[in-house]
Amino acid sequence: MTAPDSFKTIIEPFKIKTVEPLRMTSRGERAAFLKEAGYNLFRIASANVLIDLLTDSGTGAMSSEQWAGMMRGDEAYAGSSSFYRFEETIKELTGFRHVIPTHQGRAAERILFSVTSGPGKVIPGNHHFDTTRANIEVTGAEALDLPCREAVDPSLSAPFKGNIDLERLESLLQDRAQNVPMCIITLTDNTGGGQPVSLRNLRDARTLLNQHGVPLILDAARFAENAMFVKMREPGNADRTPREIAREQFSYADGCMMSAKKDGIANIGGFLALNNDSWAERARQLLILTEGFTTYGGLAGRDLEAIAQGLEEVLHEDYLRYRLRSAEYLGDGIRNAGIPIVEPPGGHAVYIDARAMLRHIPPDLLPGQALSCALYVEGGVRTIEVGTVMFGHIDPKTGQQVAADKDLVRLALPRRVYTQSHIDYVIEVAESLARNRAAIGGYRIVSEPAALRHFTGVFEPVEAVPG
Ligand code: F0G
Repeated sequence: MTAPDSFKTIIEPFKIKTVEPLRMTSRGERAAFLKEAGYNLFRIASANVLIDLLTDSGTGAMSSEQWAGMMRGDEAYAGSSSFYRFEETIKELTGFRHVIPTHQGRAAERILFSVTSGPGKVIPGNHHFDTTRANIEVTGAEALDLPCREAVDPSLSAPFKGNIDLERLESLLQDRAQNVPMCIITLTDNTGGGQPVSLRNLRDARTLLNQHGVPLILDAARFAENAMFVKMREPGNADRTPREIAREQFSYADGCMMSAKKDGIANIGGFLALNNDSWAERARQLLILTEGFTTYGGLAGRDLEAIAQGLEEVLHEDYLRYRLRSAEYLGDGIRNAGIPIVEPPGGHAVYIDARAMLRHIPPDLLPGQALSCALYVEGGVRTIEVGTVMFGHIDPKTGQQVAADKDLVRLALPRRVYTQSHIDYVIEVAESLARNRAAIGGYRIVSEPAALRHFTGVFEPVEAVPG
């Protein structure tokens, strides 16, 4: 008899206890919903979405143990036992002395930068996520991305495209270390395609930062996925557990910010964990002012339980193997359909290079938006544009659209929600679009708010330019 661990199929390592029906819609209905929504997928009701790949944030399915924890939640205002479980789990995992709960990741960012940053300061990182960047900039400080060279080319496959460029970090530190309150490394690099950072890069960054007395803070939203990539790709780590690797990741840092909506497998929550006593003291004062008392930080006791349990489950090796394989499987399917993607697939998502796929649509006619809309009409699949709509702008002098450097469409996988047949369906939808790509036309912006136009902007289709 064959030993079970020799089978090549990597199954979903869970069975399903509660189900939520999906509502089927016709192509005609979806076209009408999209038009009504001003061609903006954020404005579509989720009831009219079949497969929702808009984000992996807060959209995961909780386990029976997490739901059991919800019932155990202690809702005391101060000193809740759920907080102590939460705190102990995070201290054991990260080794940081102070644990400060927040309602989600960006609240941890706002608090940290409010107490450490300001005009004249610069915060380098491998690739700041957009809320991180915005929370740095709102203090008057500069957010500086220093991605490694391999990260620039979407089609290049390299194991650790999330690494920070150490040479550029060194020259920044030589010039102005006194203005650098911290360096932030994001695990995994979401903005750059869900790409991991190697232990070696973290260690080398730490050594360099030590020479200048600059602390390292991790944006740990996807720390477990990063640890699994290290296990699978970085020599010498194959026999280690994801938890051992995760702890080594944290050992190089002085603190972390975390959106528990990702690798906490919770629907809401986050935290800030720090070693610096004075930063922690000031962060707690601000927390009380804007989030809540230090033992709940804007969360219910039941949320703290769900996060503590989620942080244990996310490090199970079977789960992580299945998780990374899911994104790889989706990436393989889309690539095989002849659609260019950011290589290799990330941990939580696959990013389609819409500009390369739809060469007949120039960047100012928003190829990412066009592909996102087409995926919805074709198969009810909701994705997010990460390109000119999100990062471009209208030039106030010329009135012209200034394109972003890339036009990507992200297909993010909620944790433990969709099965392989859902993914096969998404691949089939992508194949159908790949065959008929010439029929996809561009879009223009009809109206947009002053900032963050991708959330509420209104669009309209323009005629396809013959390719
Ligand atoms: N850092 C990273 C790397 C993120 O991906 C996010 C959120 C945050 C911080 C902010 O956390 O949402 O809990 O306030 N990313 C989501 C996404 C929104 O869809 O990628 P938050």
